[in-house]
Amino acid sequence: MCGIVGSIGFKNTKSFIIDGLKDLDYRGYDSAGLAFSFGKRINIYKAVGSVSNLEAIIPELSLNPYMGVGHTRWATHGKPTEINCHPHQSMHGLFTIVCNGVVENYLQLKQQLQSKGFKFVSDTDTEVISNLLEDRYFETRNIMRSIEETMAVLTGSFAVVFIADMDPKHLYFMKRHSPLMIGRGDHFSLVASDASPMVRYTDKYIDLEDDSYGFISNDDVEIFKNGEKIPFQFTKKSPDITVKDLNGYPHYMLKEIEEIERVIRRLMVEYYDKGEFLFDHELMRALTESDHIVFVACGTSYHASLVGARYFDILGKSTSTHIASEFAYYPQFPGRKPFFIFLSQSGETADVIHCMTTVKEHNIPCLVLTNKKGSTLERGCDFSLLLHAGLEVSVASTKAYAAEVALLALLANAYSNRKEVIRDLEECCGVIADIDQNLKGKVHEIAEELKHSKDIYFLGRGFDYDMSLEASLKLKEITYIHSEAVAGGELKHGPIALISQDTPVIVTISDNVTALSMRANIQEVKARGAKVFTFVTEPLANDTDTIVVKNHKRYLSPVVMSSLAFYFAYYVAVLNDRNVDKPRNLAKSVTVE
Ligand code: M6R
Repeated sequence: MCGIVGSIGFKNTKSFIIDGLKDLDYRGYDSAGLAFSFGKRINIYKAVGSVSNLEAIIPELSLNPYMGVGHTRWATHGKPTEINCHPHQSMHGLFTIVCNGVVENYLQLKQQLQSKGFKFVSDTDTEVISNLLEDRYFETRNIMRSIEETMAVLTGSFAVVFIADMDPKHLYFMKRHSPLMIGRGDHFSLVASDASPMVRYTDKYIDLEDDSYGFISNDDVEIFKNGEKIPFQFTKKSPDITVKDLNGYPHYMLKEIEEIERVIRRLMVEYYDKGEFLFDHELMRALTESDHIVFVACGTSYHASLVGARYFDILGKSTSTHIASEFAYYPQFPGRKPFFIFLSQSGETADVIHCMTTVKEHNIPCLVLTNKKGSTLERGCDFSLLLHAGLEVSVASTKAYAAEVALLALLANAYSNRKEVIRDLEECCGVIADIDQNLKGKVHEIAEELKHSKDIYFLGRGFDYDMSLEASLKLKEITYIHSEAVAGGELKHGPIALISQDTPVIVTISDNVTALSMRANIQEVKARGAKVFTFVTEPLANDTDTIVVKNHKRYLSPVVMSSLAFYFAYYVAVLNDRNVDKPRNLAKSVTVE
C-alpha cells in the first residue's frame, strides 16, 4: 500500500524510478507520480492509474536528473486524482515530498497551518507534512531542525522522502512505523519502501529504525535520532526476492494455485530431515512452557490461524485467535505465560505490526509465520518461521494460505512429536495434484453455472467451516459477488432466512465427525429451494455429490479443499472479466491501519 523509491547520483534516474515503482506494484496503488531534480529545477509528473500511464507522460530527457523520488499512491485521504497524487509541494515550493502512512492528527495540523496562511490544494495528509516542514524552515532556516520539529508534532505512521529546494545535493528522509530502506552503491544512494527496486544495483542495505531521519547523497548517508547522529551498519545479505514471472500463465493467481503442491513439498524439506523436525529448540521450549497460545492475523492469514488454533486445541493446549485490528484496541494476555503467534504473508501488515509492538511492550515471546525474510514482523518477533512459498504476486492470497496451514500442521505435530505428519502431507500433495489435473475442469463447470449469481453461500463445520470462511473471502475479493460462510449449526439461527429458490450453496464435507449433520443441513437448504453443490472426500461421498476428492487426513482438509475453492473463485472472476490479480480497492500488502 503506497510505495516509495528515490535515488541520488544514479546514472539513469528515470529508469530507476519507473522500474522501481513497477517493482513495488504488489503493494497496490491507484495513481503514481514522481519528481526529478535537475539542481535548480524540479519537474513533477503525475498520473491516475498505472505506472505505465505515468511513464507515458514523461518526455524524453536530454539531461539525467541528479535525484528523483517516485511514489505509488493507494488512496486514503482523498480520491485517486492527479491533485492528490504524490509528490506534494509545500505552498512556496521549498519541499517536494512523497509519503507512505497515515498522519492521524493531520486535520488539526492543517487547521493550525491554515490559520498561519498556508493554502492547501489536495485532500491529503501528506501535504500537511510538506507545509509543516516549510513552516518550520521559515522559523529555523535549518533543514534538520525543521525535520525534528515536524516529527515532534506528527502522530501516526509515515515514511517520508523529500527534496529540499535549497539543498540540491541531498535527498532527505524521516520514518516512523512505515518501512523504509536505504541502498548504497558506487557514487550513488537509493531509498525505497523495500529492497525490491534496489536489488539489481546494490547488496548494501540499511534498514531504517523508527523515528530516524537524515539524508543521503551520492557518496554519503547520515542518520539521526533525537537530535543525535547515530551509527549504522549495512546488511549485505540480499533479501529473499524471487523473480516475478507469469511463466506462461494468464494470471498470477492461477500460477500460484498450481504452485501449492510444490510449496508444501518445500516446507517438508525445510522443516524435517532425517527423521527429525528442524524447528528451533528455543522456539519449541517457549511453546511448551507457555500455557496459552494467542494467534493474531488479518484476512486470509487470520483464516489460517483458525486452523492452527484447532491443531493446538486438539493437543490440549489452550488457545485464542484474534483479528489483528480488533486485538489492537482490546489486547488480551490470557494465562500466566502466553505465547503469541502472528501470521502474515507479507510481514508488513500494519495492524499485525501494531499488535506485535504491544506484545513486545509486555515482554511476551512471539513467533511470526511469514513469507518475507527481512520484513518488519520477521525482524521484530523473537522467533520466525518462513513460509517458503516464493513471491506471491496476486492480491488474492492462495499458496500462502496453504503454506500457513501446512506449516502450522508441521509445528503442532513437532510439538507433539508426531512424525506421521510427513506421510500425511505427502498424501495431501497427491490429492492436490489430482485436483490440479483432474478436478479443476469440474470446478470450472460449476463456475460457469454460478457466474451470474448475486450471492453464494459456503457451508461447513469444524475445519470445513474454517476453510469456508477463506473460500468466501476469496470469492468476494476477486469476483465482487456477495458471499458468506456459515457454520452448519448456525444456519437455523438466522442465515437460513437468506435461502430461497435457486440460492447457490456450496457445502464442504471432509470430516466424519460432522458429515451427518452437514447432510442434514443440505436437506434444510434444499427444502428452501437452494441449489446445492458439494465438495466431499471419498469415504464420505455418495452418488449425489458434485466433486469427490481423494481421501486424506481430515486435519489437512483446509489445505486440500481450499484448492477447490481457489479455483472456483478464480474461474468465476475470469468468466466475469474481472481484474483477477489486482481486484478493485485492494492492495497486496496493507501497510496502513
Ligand atoms: O500479508 P498478510 O498475510 O498479513 O495479509 C493479510 C491480509 O491483508 C490478506 O490475507 C488479504 O486478506 C488477502 N488479500 C486475502 O486474499
